[in-house]
Amino acid sequence: LANPRADRSSLRHLGATLVVALLASAPTPAPGADAAAGKALAKKCQTCHGIDGVARIPEAPTIAGESTIYLIKQLKAFRAGERKSPQMSIIAEPLSDDDIANLAAWYASIKVSVELPADQ
Ligand code: HEC
Repeated sequence: LANPRADRSSLRHLGATLVVALLASAPTPAPGADAAAGKALAKKCQTCHGIDGVARIPEAPTIAGESTIYLIKQLKAFRAGERKSPQMSIIAEPLSDDDIANLAAWYASIKVSVELPADQ
């Protein structure tokens, strides 16, 4: 390699290109996501996550206020079998991309407030 410095700079350039490509492919909420339709669909979820996203069983997480990006990613991972859970794999299997976007819009729209333990 005649000029190692030039090589490093082209590597840096490649790195920047990769970051841009990853950002461009990041999951984004569907533009037409409908939180009201998601709330109606959430009847399927309420036994475990509540209609308000606050867990009703100890095995299930509270999903109120999680970001649409995270919710969509997890629901698609359950549907694809990349994330496995006896309950969620069955629940997610029949969901369409629109269902997932609407469910995510609903649960993400719920405002969460937290309170630290008094002695901390
Ligand atoms: C029978 C109970 C049950 C029902 C019904 C259910 N879930 Fe779940 N859900 C779970 C459990 C248990 C987990 C934790 C899975 C694990 O351990 O990875 C989970 C995990 C999730 C997660 C991942 C949250 C995180 O923080 O990683 C999302 C998102 C989710 N559920 C959404 C839904 C939606 C949307 C519905 C309705 C369409 C639904 N769930 C219905 C039990 C349920």
